Amino acid sequence: MTPPSPTPAGDFVRIVEVGPRDGLQNEKAQVATADKVELIDRLTRTGLLSIEATSFVSPKWVPQLADAAEVFSAIHRRPGTAYPVLVPNETGYDRARAVGVEEVAVFTAASEAFNRKNINASIDESIERFRPVLARAANDGIRVRGYVSTVLGCPYQGDVPLTDVVRVAKQLHALGCYEISLGDTIGVGTPHKAADMLKAVAAEVPMAALAVHFHDTYGQALANLLACLDVGVRVVDAAVSGAGGCPYAKGASGNVASEDVVYLLHGLGLRTGVDLDLLADTGRWLAARLGRETGSRVGKALAAAA
Ligand code: HMG
Ligand code: MG
Repeated sequence: MTPPSPTPAGDFVRIVEVGPRDGLQNEKAQVATADKVELIDRLTRTGLLSIEATSFVSPKWVPQLADAAEVFSAIHRRPGTAYPVLVPNETGYDRARAVGVEEVAVFTAASEAFNRKNINASIDESIERFRPVLARAANDGIRVRGYVSTVLGCPYQGDVPLTDVVRVAKQLHALGCYEISLGDTIGVGTPHKAADMLKAVAAEVPMAALAVHFHDTYGQALANLLACLDVGVRVVDAAVSGAGGCPYAKGASGNVASEDVVYLLHGLGLRTGVDLDLLADTGRWLAARLGRETGSRVGKALAAAA
């Protein structure tokens, strides 16, 4: 094993806002296309540098995001902000490119059982599906992010060996993904386990190419995040209003709320470039559109203090 990569210098943390994708993909009632567009435009105005806009997956598998092309075509993209979208295969890549997508994300898992339920493929089969996507993306000048799900536990398999997480992250990096997001899909992790997992991956993939992605099912997401910041990660996925969950991960609840993450980071003296008040407004706006209270503690606290 190569020694761990050095902790990235600097106090800037890039937040990858996954609300429009991970946040909405599991909503039962159809969210209007215009609301999805407004959500992304509001998020753009907060100063976020990366906003995952939608998914070009099978509409039979994720009906909520069947309007991916319409959404992507209607948003107001700000130069300097990235708008990645999920693609599971070349069909998704073709659909995404047809509407001018400039960054895509491929996704697989460290658990065979989850991957089969989520994308109907073994881990190796999914990597083979990504190979032509990565090759075409390199040729087209398109950036590709990679996700590894179930890094701290699987709803079907239970424990997931660290060696499997490291192997899959390494494969995605070797394939050409510029960044690998390590996903605690069902939010079962705790801080020491999260930090150990990140350290193990960072021994094989540079820390600067890693991101963490926590769901908050057991209320551990911020604690896990803090542990991983201490280890050196500087890219964090989060969803405004704490929306989210994967339809193919039994028991998965929302992502860690972006507002809570920004509050934590600013409190630690780290920079994000994000306007917290605008973000919290957006979270409350989204919650109102979805007919519920915001899932962000910070969003609630700021509203109460106003
Ligand atoms: P399959 O049924 O095995 O696919 O699904 P297939 O290749 O046999 O194709 C079946 C039909 O789907 C065909 O159409 C294809 O053309 C069509 P038909 O001939 O029946 O009319 N099709 C497509 N249509 C539109 N866009 C496409 C596409 N591909 C095939 N891209 C497949 C395999 C991968 C397509 C399916 O399983 C799928 O779309 N899965 C997506 C599941 C998903 O989106 N899950 C949530 C995201 S992952 C997540 O949330 C975790 C994450 O947040 C990190 C974490 O938390 O850990 C990222
Ligand atoms: Mg997720």
